Amino acid sequence: MEKFYLEEPTMKRKQEAYLYICEHIKSGSNINGSGSLDKYIDNYEGWLKKLEHDKTRIPDEYKVPSLTYFLIRENDDKIIGMINIRLTLNEFLSKYGGHIGYGIRPSERGKGYNKINLYLGLQVCDKHGIDVVFMDADLDNPASWKTMEALGGVRVRQYFEEIDQTETVDYNINVKESLEKYKDIYEPYISEERIRR
Ligand SMILES: CC(C)(COP(=O)(O)OP(=O)(O)OC[C@H]1O[C@@H](n2cnc3c(N)ncnc32)[C@H](O)[C@@H]1OP(=O)(O)O)[C@@H](O)C(=O)NCCC(=O)NCCS
Repeated sequence: MEKFYLEEPTMKRKQEAYLYICEHIKSGSNINGSGSLDKYIDNYEGWLKKLEHDKTRIPDEYKVPSLTYFLIRENDDKIIGMINIRLTLNEFLSKYGGHIGYGIRPSERGKGYNKINLYLGLQVCDKHGIDVVFMDADLDNPASWKTMEALGGVRVRQYFEEIDQTETVDYNINVKESLEKYKDIYEPYISEERIRR
């Protein structure tokens, strides 16, 4: 059976992380949940420093503290996706974006992996005392909002978002309730050591 864990980025994934971003660029895909790795494509070391800084940022109107992880498939030690978890929300993020951004590499999509990514992400949220996760998605990105629904997300709002000019859907996920409700489905896919460095 395939097993997955979240890994804090370190130097050991430098080349692989580069290829992960290149795969998105080649297929013309959006890149989400990467903690801006795509903007540091030629400066992985700088990106690692940025991630360290992100962890303990003082929240302001622009930035909040956040954690970024690779989703690793243990069987072949491969980066499958990424997830970025904001530990607190500022006014902007409480309206747009929410607690979590995520992505799966184009060649591995449609296999249920983002649901595992979000399940692990919710465990991180739980560890950090986040009771209700707020997330949003474009209505025309069903792979994203169906992931939320698969983990117990409740649609609380649908509206036209002026900044990006998109129909948007907002979701709330009760973290503890969802982890309990879906553990039998997702736990079998989780590695023994679920968060690694
Ligand atoms: C959104 C994204 C992370 C989904 O990853 P994924 O691994 O393909 O998703 P999963 O296979 O776990 O599927 C999650 C749900 O979406 C559904 N789904 C997957 N691809 C779909 C598609 N192309 N169209 C409609 N539904 C889709 C699945 O059936 C599943 O729902 P279900 O449990 O009701 O069957 C991936 O498409 C991606 O990285 N997109 C680019 C970045 C992005 O848009 N991120 C989200 C914004 S923050």
